[in-house]
Amino acid sequence: MAQARIGVIGVGTFGINHLRCFRQLGYLGVAELVAAADINEKLLAERQAEFGMPVYTDYREMLEKEQLDGVTVVTPDPLHKDIVITCAEAGKHILCEKPLDVTVAGCQQMIDACAQNDVLLQVDFHKRFDEYHLEMRRKIVAGDIGKVQYGYSHMEDRIEVPRDWFPNWARNSSPAWFLGIHFYDLTRFLLHANGVRVWATGCKGKLQSLGVDTWDSIQAKVEFDCGACVTFDTAWILPDGFEAIVNQGIRLVGEKGLIECDSQDRGTGSCCEGLGMATHNMSFLRPRIDKQGREVFDGYGITSIADFAENVNVLLDGAKLGELAPYPSGVDGLEATRIAAGVHRSLEAGGIVEL
Ligand SMILES: NC(=O)c1ccc[n+]([C@@H]2O[C@H](COP(=O)([O-])OP(=O)(O)OC[C@H]3O[C@@H](n4cnc5c(N)ncnc54)[C@H](O)[C@@H]3O)[C@@H](O)[C@H]2O)c1
Repeated sequence: MAQARIGVIGVGTFGINHLRCFRQLGYLGVAELVAAADINEKLLAERQAEFGMPVYTDYREMLEKEQLDGVTVVTPDPLHKDIVITCAEAGKHILCEKPLDVTVAGCQQMIDACAQNDVLLQVDFHKRFDEYHLEMRRKIVAGDIGKVQYGYSHMEDRIEVPRDWFPNWARNSSPAWFLGIHFYDLTRFLLHANGVRVWATGCKGKLQSLGVDTWDSIQAKVEFDCGACVTFDTAWILPDGFEAIVNQGIRLVGEKGLIECDSQDRGTGSCCEGLGMATHNMSFLRPRIDKQGREVFDGYGITSIADFAENVNVLLDGAKLGELAPYPSGVDGLEATRIAAGVHRSLEAGGIVEL
């Protein structure tokens, strides 16, 4: 089998997980972490010291100098589009972080660029790879809960995320773009449906008082084309003392039953001196030491990225794009963005908007 040669663009807070994934796929002979690019030289040097690959401050130079089959784009949301289009024109397969872009038109441009250059466009919607969510999907597809009528989901970060992780671009994002997008996509995946209209309300104040000009919380009620209505509660102002970095869950009710998942509290909790109460979502990222004594990570946060490398390998082995098994595609990215953009249009309009 082919071994995809991968470059990572953007090695910040989440980019490190892409580096970890491709490094450990290298241990297994599945993919190779060939190079990385970031405009932050200091960070790039730290990542190089840890992962050992050649690094570039200009991703275009990396595209020119390295022989890459694929790239992953892990830059701030508004920067995905131009980078993806440039990489597509260079003939590279692409995994893009969520949201694909912050406009529906931008997503379409990215889809078109990838189609014109016959390259894969995959979106890192990792909630589709969570084994708990996959069981929900299996039961829904089997008809166990009947036709879904309504549902509810929540995703809420501790305030450190917009305040400390990326205060320089949090104002260009929101709870809908950063968090809601995960559950808009997951709900589309579970219901096999697209959003048709939305009504959203939101609050500002807490983050503005800290100098970060964005929404604190956004609630959105979305009607899907299967007839179900799902409410999405999103916020990123949970107190520093909250038991996990993210609180999240989903519940769907159908004609014959209901199904629900606490996607954060998987049953393991702790209370330690100086650390307080904590829950541990070990389904997402589980560090362990492999038989050779190397640190590796398991969990859906990694599986979702590895899925891209496996797709690239299938393509390198001769398959056509249309022959790949289902994966979170550019169209999925566009449809999730359609909902998030609609949420913001509704906030501005103060009422229901059509998607
Ligand atoms: N899948 C997930 O669970 C998940 C979690 C967090 C973030 N994300 C997404 O990942 C992306 C990055 O988020 P983050 O939290 O890592 O942000 P971050 O700010 O920590 O990292 C972004 C990195 O991109 C670099 N960068 C900016 N412009 C660049 C350019 N032109 N070329 C190369 N590098 C450039 C920055 O220097 C920075 O190191 C965002 O789209 C975010 O929504 C996904």
